Amino acid sequence: MFEKKAEISNNEAKIALETSVKVLKNTLRKNFGEYLNHSSVNGIYPVCKNDQWTNGFYVGELWLAYEFTGDEEFKRGAEALIPGFIERIKKKIAVDHHDMGFLYSPSCIAAHKLTGNEEAKEAAILAADMLISRFQEKGEFLQAWGAMGEEGNYRYIIDCLLNLPLLYRASEMTGDDKYRNIALKHITTCLKYSIRPDGSTYHTFFMDKNTGGPLRGETCQGYSNESFWARGQAWGVYGTALSYRYTHKEEYKDAFKKTLDFYLSKLPEDMVPYWDMIFTEGEEPRDSSSASIVACGLLEMANLVGEEEAAYCRSLAAKMLKSLADNYAVKPENGSNGLVLHGTYSKKSPYNTCSEAGVDECVSWGDYFYMEALTRFTKDWDTYW
Ligand code: GLY
Repeated sequence: MFEKKAEISNNEAKIALETSVKVLKNTLRKNFGEYLNHSSVNGIYPVCKNDQWTNGFYVGELWLAYEFTGDEEFKRGAEALIPGFIERIKKKIAVDHHDMGFLYSPSCIAAHKLTGNEEAKEAAILAADMLISRFQEKGEFLQAWGAMGEEGNYRYIIDCLLNLPLLYRASEMTGDDKYRNIALKHITTCLKYSIRPDGSTYHTFFMDKNTGGPLRGETCQGYSNESFWARGQAWGVYGTALSYRYTHKEEYKDAFKKTLDFYLSKLPEDMVPYWDMIFTEGEEPRDSSSASIVACGLLEMANLVGEEEAAYCRSLAAKMLKSLADNYAVKPENGSNGLVLHGTYSKKSPYNTCSEAGVDECVSWGDYFYMEALTRFTKDWDTYW
């Protein structure tokens, strides 16, 4: 499959990163010290407060740009946003949900890794504490949203796989296994119920509050309960690769392969999925962010497997990146302050429960994972996850 597709070269990947960095520098100069919204509106990200699940991604882009260029302006830009993350977790501002890894890995874990910022490390550990406070013993999962134990919110979502690396890290940083043990329990539940026999995935999964048994899969942002929300599938691919990295448990690699194979089987010709993979052709919007997320998962797995499998993963990632860089990446002349066009945050359908936002726009995690995938492709990268 996709044997004949062109791969991005190392040089092309560097040029793509240079283009991203150029756009990012303009944004930084215009918006120094400000947080940007989850998705663009007509190609422009509005400024927002640091109160969303997505605020870590722009900071992560600045850190990646700093790593790529060595330019202190990016470092200063990222550092200006870190106090807001420290304050947010200390004062518990909009942290009553599970997305602590999405928030604190690309911001504070990166800050600690790149600059030794101890306050950022402490904030990341507090975020891990907040995340494990959402663990439900009955059913063994991290509750995604809403008040703890609430009937209508007694569920987890596949996206949470990306929050688990913060817990593995917290155990490493503190020497306390409680974080890692909860991550392992959560992923066991998730892999058992969220992956269907054909390798496709449920977005959210409800558990029985009384017995802890499985109830049902349900979508929020996908087209319908039994369809294949592209980004959920992508979180499955990258999330299993990341847990495999921290544990080397074979079942996580098996889940990676299964979710990847399904994802590949539903891709259109240019390897960038429609927002839900029940659509394989036509005019429905794409979700370019899923392609970047999967490319990161492939490049992560390439570091962890033998030569033949690694070459397969790397080649697929290179093809996805070529398509993204050639046909989806923002060029300075586009006038956008985002990096990758044609992402989809939440598209309303007759069968889902989301509110519509960021359809066919730049999305902040799409920009971040595009830069991360290019970075991974061009160098041996020490991960923020
Ligand atoms: N984690 C929410 C999303 O992927 O849109």
